[in-house]
Amino acid sequence: MRATVGAFSALALLLAAGSAGAQMGDAGRGERLFNQQCKVCHTAEKGGANKVGPALSGVFGRKAGTAPGFSASGAMVKSGIVWDEKTVGEYLTDPKARIPGNKMAFTGLRKPEQVDDVVAYLKKATR
Ligand code: HEC
Repeated sequence: MRATVGAFSALALLLAAGSAGAQMGDAGRGERLFNQQCKVCHTAEKGGANKVGPALSGVFGRKAGTAPGFSASGAMVKSGIVWDEKTVGEYLTDPKARIPGNKMAFTGLRKPEQVDDVVAYLKKATR
């Protein structure tokens, strides 16, 4: 019993240390977050279709609101954003604040490390 408790707290410490020290996102955790929170509206893989939201394949380096075949909001198109790690991260933190009037019905990822994780996953998955 004692040993089990000890193992648990050691694991908790490890996990805490891991997330506190994380500079770069963890693509594996990002994939799980994407599957839970984004996949209802987005595909990430090459050749993936538009859903409620635009296909994210090739999103890095692309101008906001220009996914082929997707009718983006005027606010998105006029934002003038070119998606990179920084702008995607800002958008996912607070979509409504970053691009007022955009039509993505998502409140934002609450924790900075969740943003880093999802961005790390997207960088791999949308290439
Ligand atoms: C309820 C559906 C929905 C959810 C959930 C959602 N999105 Fe979106 N997303 C949209 C829509 C709709 C747009 C287009 C917004 C516009 O044109 O104003 C969009 C736009 C985007 C864009 C800009 C794409 C471009 O080509 O300009 C990115 C990046 C993005 N979403 C990523 C995500 C990620 C990552 C998540 C999960 C953390 C997520 N979205 C969750 C619907 C959603």
